Amino acid sequence: MLHNPASKYRPFAPVNLRDRTWPDAQITHPPIWCSVDLRDGNQALIEPMDVERKIRMFEQLVKIGFKQIEVGFPSASQTEFDFMRKLIEEKRIPEDVTVQVLTQAREHLIQRTFEALEGVPRAIVHLYNATAPVMRRVVLNMSEDEIVDLARTHAQMFKDFAARYPQTQWQFEYSPEMYSDTELEFSTRVIDAVTEVWEASPEKKCIINLPTTVEHSSPNVFADMVEWTCRNIQRRDGVIVSVHPHNDRGTGTATAELALMAGADRLEGCLFGNGERTGNLDIVNVALNMYIQGVSPGLDFSNIDAIRATVEYCNQLPVHPRHPYVGDLVYTSFSGSHQDAIKKAFAARKEGDIWDMPYLPIDPKDLGRSYEAVIRVNSQSGKGGIAYLLEAEYGVQLPRRLQIEFSQVVQHEMDALGTEFAAADLWKIFEKEYCLFNDHGLQYAMQQEKGLVKLQGSLQWQGQTVPLQGSGNGAIDAFVQALSNGLGCTLRVQDYSEHAIGQGANAQAMAYVELRVNDDQTIYGVGTDANIVSASMHAILSGLQRSKLQVAETA
Ligand code: KIV
Ligand code: ZN
Repeated sequence: MLHNPASKYRPFAPVNLRDRTWPDAQITHPPIWCSVDLRDGNQALIEPMDVERKIRMFEQLVKIGFKQIEVGFPSASQTEFDFMRKLIEEKRIPEDVTVQVLTQAREHLIQRTFEALEGVPRAIVHLYNATAPVMRRVVLNMSEDEIVDLARTHAQMFKDFAARYPQTQWQFEYSPEMYSDTELEFSTRVIDAVTEVWEASPEKKCIINLPTTVEHSSPNVFADMVEWTCRNIQRRDGVIVSVHPHNDRGTGTATAELALMAGADRLEGCLFGNGERTGNLDIVNVALNMYIQGVSPGLDFSNIDAIRATVEYCNQLPVHPRHPYVGDLVYTSFSGSHQDAIKKAFAARKEGDIWDMPYLPIDPKDLGRSYEAVIRVNSQSGKGGIAYLLEAEYGVQLPRRLQIEFSQVVQHEMDALGTEFAAADLWKIFEKEYCLFNDHGLQYAMQQEKGLVKLQGSLQWQGQTVPLQGSGNGAIDAFVQALSNGLGCTLRVQDYSEHAIGQGANAQAMAYVELRVNDDQTIYGVGTDANIVSASMHAILSGLQRSKLQVAETA
């Protein structure tokens, strides 16, 4: 890289617009959305879509709710032409959808475009030519006057060809290509020439599309450009101002949002931002940003994973796991403190509350995603995530100190393996660590005498049969006494909790005990059984087995 990049690159010149109004604007309604997946998106693919894929994409776009869809560039190839014909001849265009096609400002291409559209009930025909100085100088070798003339002549051709197909309801669109790098006075001159030919009026609006063909400036500068253009073009009330951001600086979404605040009425973009180089504007991103501000975007992403699958199939390109709203990992927190906050917020949340959840800007359920992925456990995770996963998947409600104890066990395993743990992995570790299904050959009988419970029985403990005999105020008390006597240790239950898992005949009790063993060790045990007393006894045995109590120390 250069020590002094200014010797090679120049800063973008600001727009002289001191009284700009867009910073105070709010987005309160959706724009007219136009998908360009089948044209701009398609032309950027390693392998452009065949007709079958194009149909799949078209149907998906219709299902999402797009009312304007740029379906191709019919004069560019036979596939594009045939696809247009197929949509028309097989009557695949719903009545509330308008298809759009693009053409360069060249007569034979315009002619072929209108031929491709023969018989279509409604269509937007989109004309473009480059206007930026670098294109005028290097590619077209044309003066400003010649460019204005080129645009005016081909705009007139649109009118002439359209007149040959009076049964179609035509709307025209014009893009000064590379508007983002064109002098504002000049792009306005070209736009005015085109809208004059098209006689743009409130009754017969045309679309003027302002592309950031390449993102040249920061979004605030582009917003100034859009506001400047909206103020200075003639026939503004006969023009639908559209923007078409690309994403070279990684700010396509911000560019689109600020452009809407600056007066744009319409947005062109692609699903999940496919498109040339770094992509077109990600329409899903903008629409869902609106949604989480309480503005209905008029596009339906209720099953976002199915939409992603179709887009990945049609584009033969994967969507990144961190892509906003749709990536595999975007509703997942690995960090322990994040998990803790999410868990608490879910517990505090009541049905019907405003969505105000830490680390989750949108309810994943609104997009058809589940809460399963919200918390995943890796070496960065803490007790909150582990407890959340076990509760969500297995219904166990670990007491807080047990969470701390178990998270150390998990951390130890994780450090050894270095991988992420799913709920099933955690459950396996939990079962093993707390000897969940080991009954230790426990046999006992109890009887009650004068308010005292007496227990008698035996236990298999480290290869020996240990007789049990004890009494207490209740069954657990008697069992603790009997164990202390039989194993020759002191044993105290410091904390106890239980809950049911499942319902009815299949319900199981889960019991958690915090034991103090020989006054030098505090440890948890967990037990499960259909019977609550047995579950508690198993929990005590689980704690004892985990303690350092050795058989040699037993009586
Ligand atoms: O990015 C662009 O400038 C375009 C135009 C043809 C609208 O795709
Ligand atoms: Zn483009």
